[in-house]
Amino acid sequence: MKDIISAPFLTELIRTISTMYAHGWDERNGGNVSVLLNEDQVADYVDLHAPIRDIPTGFEAPALDGAYVLVTGTGKYFRNVQYDPADSLGLVKLLDGGRTAQLLWGFSNGGSVTSEFPAHMMSHAARLSVDPANRVVMHCHPNHLLAMTYVHDLDSRAFTRTLWQMCSECVAVFPEGVNVLPWMLCGTNEIGQATAEQMKTARLVVWAQHGIYGVGRDLDEAFGLIETAEKAAEIYLKIAHLPRLNTITDEQLRLLADKFGVRAREGWLD
Ligand code: 13P
Ligand code: ZN
Repeated sequence: MKDIISAPFLTELIRTISTMYAHGWDERNGGNVSVLLNEDQVADYVDLHAPIRDIPTGFEAPALDGAYVLVTGTGKYFRNVQYDPADSLGLVKLLDGGRTAQLLWGFSNGGSVTSEFPAHMMSHAARLSVDPANRVVMHCHPNHLLAMTYVHDLDSRAFTRTLWQMCSECVAVFPEGVNVLPWMLCGTNEIGQATAEQMKTARLVVWAQHGIYGVGRDLDEAFGLIETAEKAAEIYLKIAHLPRLNTITDEQLRLLADKFGVRAREGWLD
């Protein structure tokens, strides 16, 4: 059996989590990440026939039955993940239609999956239904996006249009826009279901007064989406209180979409 600490999927996750922390997106235990893995990827690193313990999930996700998931633990500090990954991270296999997460590695001091496991797993299922190559769900608390939800209209179209207007490449990076959910109680199946529903039409879902979810085929895609939206939110907060003399017009957004070969969300440009 190979040492899982040198597995590419683990080193890449640790590197990404450390970068998220360095960006200030994940104070204390804020944020969580999950990555879907294939049996082929994990079979060399863990004994699939020697589960450590079962973790009840409290929800069903039949589409993910049998899936392997590398996930951050609840209450774990992102700044510490790189120093003791086996304490902060876990590799689980979903069984019983998603009702049980069988722990195969990690959570070495008795930890458990993130409290946002319902939102993660329901979002994975929703994204797989529109993009079978999706593998990553990432949640964090970036300052500017979070601040923007206190002062900007939470209508998804209006919120997206403002972000698109802040940097020329935003419309190319997230042409489908961002979907915004009103404040809801986090860590529940209800916010999980609401998030998953929004994930069917966008790879970014903002949780008002809380943070954001990004998804992607790999960690770079999810990270890059959040990074780009967060930069746009930062620009917005720098200019929102000043007279706006210039902007990126809808005509220019159309030119950008054409240039990058993408289609802006139907009806979201005037
Ligand atoms: P966990 O520590 O359970 O992952 O929760 C952090 C968080 O961001 C909740 O939304
Ligand atoms: Zn959170």
